[in-house]
Amino acid sequence: MKAKIIINEHYPIGNIDRRIYGSFIEHLGRAVYGGIYEPTHKSADDCGFRRDVIELVRQIGVPVVRYPGGNFVSGYQWTDGTGERSKRPRRLDLAWKSIETNEIGIDEFQEWAKRVGSEVLMAVNLGTGTPQDAQNLLEYCNLDTDTHYAGMRRKNGFEKPFGIKTWCLGNEMDGHWQMGHKTAEEYGRIATETAKLMKWTDPSIELVACGSSNYDMKTFGEWEMTVLDHAYDYIDYLSLHQYYGNHTDNTADFLARSVHMDAFIKSVASICDAIKAKKHAKKSIYLSFDEWNVWFHSNGKKVEDWQIAPPILEDIYTLEDALLVGCMLITLQNNCDRVKIACLAQLVNVIAPIMTENGGKAWAQTIFYPYMYASVYGRGTALRPVVKCDGYQSSDGLQAPYLETAVIHNGDTRELIVFAVNRSLDEEIELDFAPCGFDGATLHRHVELYSDDIKQTNSAASQSVAPAEREVQDVPQLKKHSWNMLVYQY
Ligand code: AHR
Repeated sequence: MKAKIIINEHYPIGNIDRRIYGSFIEHLGRAVYGGIYEPTHKSADDCGFRRDVIELVRQIGVPVVRYPGGNFVSGYQWTDGTGERSKRPRRLDLAWKSIETNEIGIDEFQEWAKRVGSEVLMAVNLGTGTPQDAQNLLEYCNLDTDTHYAGMRRKNGFEKPFGIKTWCLGNEMDGHWQMGHKTAEEYGRIATETAKLMKWTDPSIELVACGSSNYDMKTFGEWEMTVLDHAYDYIDYLSLHQYYGNHTDNTADFLARSVHMDAFIKSVASICDAIKAKKHAKKSIYLSFDEWNVWFHSNGKKVEDWQIAPPILEDIYTLEDALLVGCMLITLQNNCDRVKIACLAQLVNVIAPIMTENGGKAWAQTIFYPYMYASVYGRGTALRPVVKCDGYQSSDGLQAPYLETAVIHNGDTRELIVFAVNRSLDEEIELDFAPCGFDGATLHRHVELYSDDIKQTNSAASQSVAPAEREVQDVPQLKKHSWNMLVYQY
C-alpha cells in the first residue's frame, strides 16, 4: 500500500516538552527493591543502586520520574522513609498488600534520580494524609530555612534542598480502590487547600491535580469540571491515566487504541478550556499524562499477600505491545501543545520497559525501544503531519489509519525525525515523504523494530525483538506490523 506524509515548516503543533518522556517508580512489587535497588547485586554502587539498571535508564534518557506512587502514596507516611535506616518502621502497604521496609525513601530516591539524570515528580498523600503533611514534605525537600523539616533534612545529611519542582496532589482519588477515595467535591476542596499551603511555602513549584483514573470512569467529565471549579487558580496541570490491553486477542482493535487516547486527551483539554472560559481565566491548564502503558498480561496472576517486594504486575511485552506503545508515544508528540508531562508507567519490573532478575541480569523489553528512540530523538518541534493513507474501523468504532506518524523538527541538528508505525497486519507501506520548506531533505537513517511473529517477546536470555538499521532507500518501505524511525537531514 502507498502512503504519503506532508509537512510544512510553517505548520508546527508545538515544542516538545522533554518531560513527555517521563516515567514512574512506585513502591510496588520489585520496582524499588530488586529493581533500582539491590545492595547485594554485583553491579551495586556505593548506595546499593544497580548500575546495570542505571545504565539502561540512562540509555532512554528519562527526564522526569514520578515517585513514590501510584496507589501506594495514598497511605504513605513520608517520614517513615527518612533518617537513620535502622530506625525506619516496617509497614503494611494496603494498596498492594505487601510489606514496605522503608529502606528507600525520599532521601535515597532523589539521589538515585540524580544518578540517572532525572528530575523527581513527587506525589503527596491526599488519601490518608493531610495538607499539613504535604506542606511538611515540601519544606523538607525544598526549603533552606531554619525550621523543623528543613533542619531535619540537614540533620539527615542533605545540606542543600532537593529542589523538587513539580508535585502531584494525590493519586487517582476518584477510584474506589484508593485509600481515602474522595468525591470530586471532597477532592476539589482538599487539593485546593493543599495547593494553597504548598504554594505559600514554595511559590516556584508547579502542581498537578488528579483527573480521572481513566476515560471509562463513570464520573469522568463531571470529576474534571468539579475539581477544576475548585482548584483552577492554584494548579498548573490536570492528570490523565490510561492503560490498554489486548483482552480479546484482536490485534487490529488493540492497535487502534491510541486513537482512543488521542480523543481522551482532546476531551480533557476541552474541559479545561470550558472551565477557563467560565472563570474568565487568563491562564490555561496543561495536561500531565502521568500514567500510560499497555497493562494486561499479568492480570489475574495471584501473588501471596504481605511479602516484601513480590513479583507483581510483571507483564512480559510482545512486539504487538511495542507497536501500541509506539503509537501512544506518537499521540503524545502530536498533542505536545497541551501535554507537557507524561509518564510511561512504570520503569522497572512493574509493567516496565526494563526488567531485572534478582541477583542476575537487567534486560530490555520490546517496549523499551520505541520509548528510548522517542526520548532520545523526539526532541524539538512537532510538525502537523497531513497523512494520506488507507485505514480501518475497529470493532468499537475507532477510525485508525494504517500509518500512524509524528514528525519532529530538530533545528539544532537540521534533522526531521519521522516516527512511523505500520498497523497493517499483512501489507508493507511504501512511504512518500513530502517535507515542504526543507530543501534537500534526504533520508539518512532508517531504524526498524520488527519480527515476523507479532507475539514475539524478549527475555533475559534473548533480545529477539531489537531495533535494526535498514538500508536507506529513496522510497522507504515500512514492513507490515512494524515500528520505524526515519531520520532526514536537510
Ligand atoms: O501503575 C500501577 C497502578 O495503576 C498505580 O499504582 C495506580 O495509580 C494505577 O491504577
